[in-house]
Amino acid sequence: MRLRRSGPQGPAAARAGRLALAALGAACIAGAMLAACGGSSSGSGSASVPTGTAAAAPVSPAAAAAPSPSGTLSLAAQVGQKMFFDKKLSGSGAMSCASCHDPAHAHAPANDLSVQLGGPHVDQAGLRAVPSLRYKDVTPPYADLLDNPDGISVPGPGGGFAWDGRADTLAAQARIPLLDPVEMANASSADVVKKLRAADYAPLIAEAFGAKAFGDDDAAFANALLALQAYQLEDKSFHPYSSKFDLYAGNKIGGALTPAETRGLKVFANPNTGNCASCHYQGAGLGGSSALFTDFSYEAIGVPRNAAIPANGNLRYFDMGVCGAMRTDHMPAAPNAANSFCGMFKAPTLRNVATRTAFFHNGVMHSLEQVVRFYNTRDTQPELWYPTVGGTPKAKNDPGFPSYGLVTTQYSGGKVKKYDDLPPTYAPNIDTQLPMDGRAAGSAPPMSEQDMADLICFLNTLSDADTKPAAPARPGACAD
Ligand code: HEC
Ligand code: HEC
Repeated sequence: MRLRRSGPQGPAAARAGRLALAALGAACIAGAMLAACGGSSSGSGSASVPTGTAAAAPVSPAAAAAPSPSGTLSLAAQVGQKMFFDKKLSGSGAMSCASCHDPAHAHAPANDLSVQLGGPHVDQAGLRAVPSLRYKDVTPPYADLLDNPDGISVPGPGGGFAWDGRADTLAAQARIPLLDPVEMANASSADVVKKLRAADYAPLIAEAFGAKAFGDDDAAFANALLALQAYQLEDKSFHPYSSKFDLYAGNKIGGALTPAETRGLKVFANPNTGNCASCHYQGAGLGGSSALFTDFSYEAIGVPRNAAIPANGNLRYFDMGVCGAMRTDHMPAAPNAANSFCGMFKAPTLRNVATRTAFFHNGVMHSLEQVVRFYNTRDTQPELWYPTVGGTPKAKNDPGFPSYGLVTTQYSGGKVKKYDDLPPTYAPNIDTQLPMDGRAAGSAPPMSEQDMADLICFLNTLSDADTKPAAPARPGACAD
């Protein structure tokens, strides 16, 4: 049975459940029981981390590039660390995992491109925005009916890595960039193993995986993927829990939220305004985790098409997330055949979101403010986000026509082509929870200007201590 967020009770009940939960969150914030709201945060995400017994890695440029406060990584993780920064492991010889997942940018890109360049000559555009690799350690494998960590919502599509959940583990995910022709562009897994055999850390690989580590190409490649996984699981730089929010949730010094941040948290959790918590869930999660700001679920929220992605020049090409084309196990039986998975992408963690410069699966937006305004006015002013067809551009915009949208030209007449990055057959898959509840164009949006400013102040508290905000707030803007 392929039903989105539905069980015996149906989708409406599922939504009601999620709203009830968010209400709970709001009540919790109003009270003083901090621990019950954020849960305990320090190190709880490391529940699944294997304990390393090996001696600390010798200091190398790679190790220096990745702060590793925990110090002790297992031998496999030490191999993974070397690999993560090794540009020789690419067809171009110029690209490592860290080129796209830069530790100095919360393991996300250092530039604001919607999609990164890769391939043999580092000149081929990718198809999707690069996510941060932080706080991915407790992600469960994908399931069509994953139990929601909130314990209230009925099961739905959730879990897995990449924007469409097509990799079940960090090891399985690592295979994708190594072999993708527009990313690291190695010719084959054997090609990668050949490079590892020649690497200066080949002895470390033998130490970690045994004298026969290179005996069989397939086994050696599988071990290499496990090494990358071990590094991401064990190294604390991937889950430092060092944000202001963590101090707040742990009731620690430095964690006192300002009045603006406190109001922002209320907007985040309030089911009648932001309602962000219903998908970017901040309560106790899976595997002893807490406050990951995702429930690992998938929804279709109608992110606008991004003309900056070359693949979108083909008007018949649609990146529809869980139903394909990159993921192939949930594809429609025939083109445009009914399929409830089309348009669904993962609700990502919002930790470190204020450090990002490309947002959503296609990187179509470039500031957090723009994203928040999209959530607020996708339905009430869709002309700011989607193209208008058949209208006439006005010579001059009316005074007051906002300049923050993706579309900055005002039209008279014509029709707004809402959800322009999804074939119309799949428009019913669009989620209808607040803040995007499908309310009529021209009606009042759910959040006020103050709500949005406060919300952004709150989202900035989710940034780890070693990061920098992409758009620093005006001095004093988040104080009161
Ligand atoms: C050219 C840029 C690029 C390089 C190099 C790259 N990645 Fe990625 N990475 C991406 C993109 C784009 C995605 C999203 C993929 C998707 O949704 O299909 C991603 C997703 C991921 C994810 C999933 C994160 C999540 O939120 O589910 C992991 C884990 C990951 N990469 C690890 C690695 C590792 C390990 C390496 C090195 C072997 C690497 N990446 C190299 C671009 C890159
Ligand atoms: C119905 C579930 C849902 C609700 C409610 C929701 N989101 Fe999201 N959010 C998503 C999904 C799904 C994505 C990814 C969509 C895509 O890329 O196509 C996303 C993506 C984002 C991103 C982009 C993150 C990145 O790394 O690119 C931000 C920022 C964000 N949401 C903030 C918010 C805020 C703030 C609110 C409340 C005002 C909110 N969301 C409410 C589901 C939701």
